[in-house]
Amino acid sequence: MSTTSASSTTPAKTISVNETIRHARIHGLGGYRPERVVTNEEICQWIDSSDEWIQQRSGIVTRRFAREDETVIDMAEAASVQALDRAGIGPEQIGAVVMATVSHPYQTPAAAPELAHRLGIPNPAAFDISAACAGYCHGISIANDMVRAGTVDYVLVVGVEKLSDFTDKHDRGSAFIFGDGAGAAVVGISDFPGIGPTLWGSLGDQRDVITQRESWTGLRPAMEDADRDEDIEWPAFVMQGQTVFRWAVFSMAPVAVEAVKAAGLTPDDLDAFVPHQANMRITDAMIKALKLPEHVPVARDIAETGNTSAASIPLAMSRMLDEGEAPHGGIALQIGFGAGLVYAAQVVVMP
Ligand code: UT7
Repeated sequence: MSTTSASSTTPAKTISVNETIRHARIHGLGGYRPERVVTNEEICQWIDSSDEWIQQRSGIVTRRFAREDETVIDMAEAASVQALDRAGIGPEQIGAVVMATVSHPYQTPAAAPELAHRLGIPNPAAFDISAACAGYCHGISIANDMVRAGTVDYVLVVGVEKLSDFTDKHDRGSAFIFGDGAGAAVVGISDFPGIGPTLWGSLGDQRDVITQRESWTGLRPAMEDADRDEDIEWPAFVMQGQTVFRWAVFSMAPVAVEAVKAAGLTPDDLDAFVPHQANMRITDAMIKALKLPEHVPVARDIAETGNTSAASIPLAMSRMLDEGEAPHGGIALQIGFGAGLVYAAQVVVMP
């Protein structure tokens, strides 16, 4: 048996690597909300609930649903075109496309290569990531590292969901919460640090807390049984709302505080707080737990957009910038959390 450990192996030849660490920032943000506005009254056709209850318990007044023929790639394309335009970056400058989604309905191929093709991005690295409502913040972290290490100069990061396809409209615990939409960011080389260290993690023992109700392979026997007369249950996303709620409120605020500290800042330095738009009451509880100074504006896009999972943070930040609620060049704290359970938080300079 060899006693040589990997660490003591000296390679015969040296591999060339980029030695210089660079700065990265978000150059432009874009958002897309589907046209159709869905009211709480419409949702209440399918569940025993009321507009008043939904508004009180979640803060949601309306959400958007995509057309039946509108795909996550269509929505991602619209948000990306806006982000590229605002960044002043051409498709040919993009070296990688990272798409965060859990509702692209194909196991393979990934959505990112098709999106890149539609946008005319020539031959980029293109892949999807599955980190649910924390997907966008994971994407920003990956893009930041790619740019800082010199792997590519510009990365297109997209958070997109068509959750209406994966919602059981009869499920009282989730039917009112989810919406559809897309947000995109162009991350690229910068003269100054524009993305702080990411605080992230996962709790795999909590996998049942938010989950697809049935696996695709679990459906197969039922689909292949021609004599079966019961309905096959669509593998919608379901959640234990209260458990998620408690975890988000008690465990995510300390992560957010650490993300601010890791960037060498204090909550007083923030110009915006953009948490994942999960529930308005979660946002309110986080503000308290964070002791967020009153002067810091807080994203409340959930009221009109619902919970769009991976899309919620870039959509909410775009809205704040568009409506003059947050300043271009200001510092924002963003935190995503969701199915996994997984989470990711970082401070960014807004484009
Ligand atoms: O995006 C990341 C993943 N998701 C989230 O972050 C969501 C986190 N969770 C939540 O936002 C909340 O848990 C919900 C909004 C989903 C639910 O609110 P809640 O305050 O946690 O409601 P609950 O489950 O504790 O139920 C309270 C009451 C119950 O009645 P009783 O037992 O007090 O009489 C429920 O039966 O509300 C009842 N209820 C409803 N009533 C009207 C539950 N769902 C509904 C409904 N309409 N849709």
